[in-house]
Amino acid sequence: MDRIRIVGGQTLSGSIPISGAKNAALPLMIASLLTPETVILENVPRLSDVRLLMRILGNHGVDASIDGKRAGQSEITGDTIRLSAAGIVDTTAPYELVSKMRASFWVIAPLVARMGQARVSLPGGCAIGTRPVDLLIMALEKLGAVIDIDAGYAVASAPNGLRGGEIVFPKVTVGGTHTALMAAVLARGTTVIENAAREPEVVDLADCLVKMGARIEGAGSERIIVEGVTSLGGARHRVLPDRIETGTYAMAVAMAGGDVTLDGTRAGLLQAALDVLAKTGTQITDTPDGIRVRRDGGRIVPVDVTTEPFPGFPTDLQAQFMALMTRAQGTSRIRETIFENRFMHVQELARLGARIRLDGDLAVVEGVPALKGAPVMATDLRASVSLVIAALAAEGETVVHRVYHLDRGFEQLERKLGACGAMIERLSGEK
Ligand code: UD1
Repeated sequence: MDRIRIVGGQTLSGSIPISGAKNAALPLMIASLLTPETVILENVPRLSDVRLLMRILGNHGVDASIDGKRAGQSEITGDTIRLSAAGIVDTTAPYELVSKMRASFWVIAPLVARMGQARVSLPGGCAIGTRPVDLLIMALEKLGAVIDIDAGYAVASAPNGLRGGEIVFPKVTVGGTHTALMAAVLARGTTVIENAAREPEVVDLADCLVKMGARIEGAGSERIIVEGVTSLGGARHRVLPDRIETGTYAMAVAMAGGDVTLDGTRAGLLQAALDVLAKTGTQITDTPDGIRVRRDGGRIVPVDVTTEPFPGFPTDLQAQFMALMTRAQGTSRIRETIFENRFMHVQELARLGARIRLDGDLAVVEGVPALKGAPVMATDLRASVSLVIAALAAEGETVVHRVYHLDRGFEQLERKLGACGAMIERLSGEK
């Protein structure tokens, strides 16, 4: 298992290309199950989660290939992948695969919509809370699927196809909204999705589905209306920029100081997080192709934050922001309202000298004048990158273990930060 070694204290300068969004690429890839024709996705990030999903889709009979790079394309340019589900050979998604990546549970929706049946393992426990799938199952049931839980699997059937219905989510769920959308596009009649997630990744999925021939209105608002169609065709679609990667590097610059442009992204995808960063004393400006982030070494101002569904401050940036706040001049309060137990990074940040007190869903972070490097352990995707951010400003050396968590969601992290002057390297193999 690889480790990442960071020697803190360098300011960052230069530019970082922002990859396509993992959380959009995954549902877009899954949507290829809805059509026998080819779906071509551009700007797909090169991440282990994407590779794993290709394997899972391959199991169902999807023919997946990655285009070779053309002359002039940088190594950091995302992949173009072709997905063709001409024949679905298996409607079962086994435990060994689904348990490695929760989002693969979402295959249940296109499989039951197109094939009338699906047998998908329940994802099981997860390091950041219980993360149930009850609302995804509820959504499919509202569209006429019959779902039994059998030996750890959700077994869905709709032998005569799905029919439109009204789905009212009692709480905002991204996965639930993706699932409802993918099921409703092939259901007979009209589906209304109330209290839908408004995340940009939902809009990206809806945009691609519309290119495939779906009839969807209101994606990006709380109410989405879908008129079912009998079949969908192929499409070519470019995955939107990763707002979490964007926010992560913006926080890295805020932490380390310096002047970095984040290319190929848009401020509107993470305005709430950028507004918070601006309050910490970081300068954020738009550039023609992205965002410029600067901090000149002045003090980091503490800011209180509560995570919320989009357009609020994203839970996926909570750990990174907490890392920044460990160096603020004063105390900040960070409330996590989306996932319980999403504070595993706290113990590891404490190893670097951070002072954080937990009280239920609240973390009270008392800024310290200096952090000190130490060996730390990555526990989940976002938590691990928060350790990298802390390490950038820590005195001496930090080694982050179990970086496979990082590889699930951050493409070439050490290369992107290294190119801006960070002292960061990957060490192969676990000591
Ligand atoms: C997605 C993102 C993840 C992000 C999260 C919230 C992907 C691949 N993952 O996860 O990075 O942190 O959105 O922005 O896109 N819930 C239920 N029952 C359900 C489903 C969800 O109670 O059936 C709850 C969850 O426990 C959580 C909340 O709803 O408290 C939001 O979860 P959800 O938006 O569904 O997260 P994911 O789609 O799994």
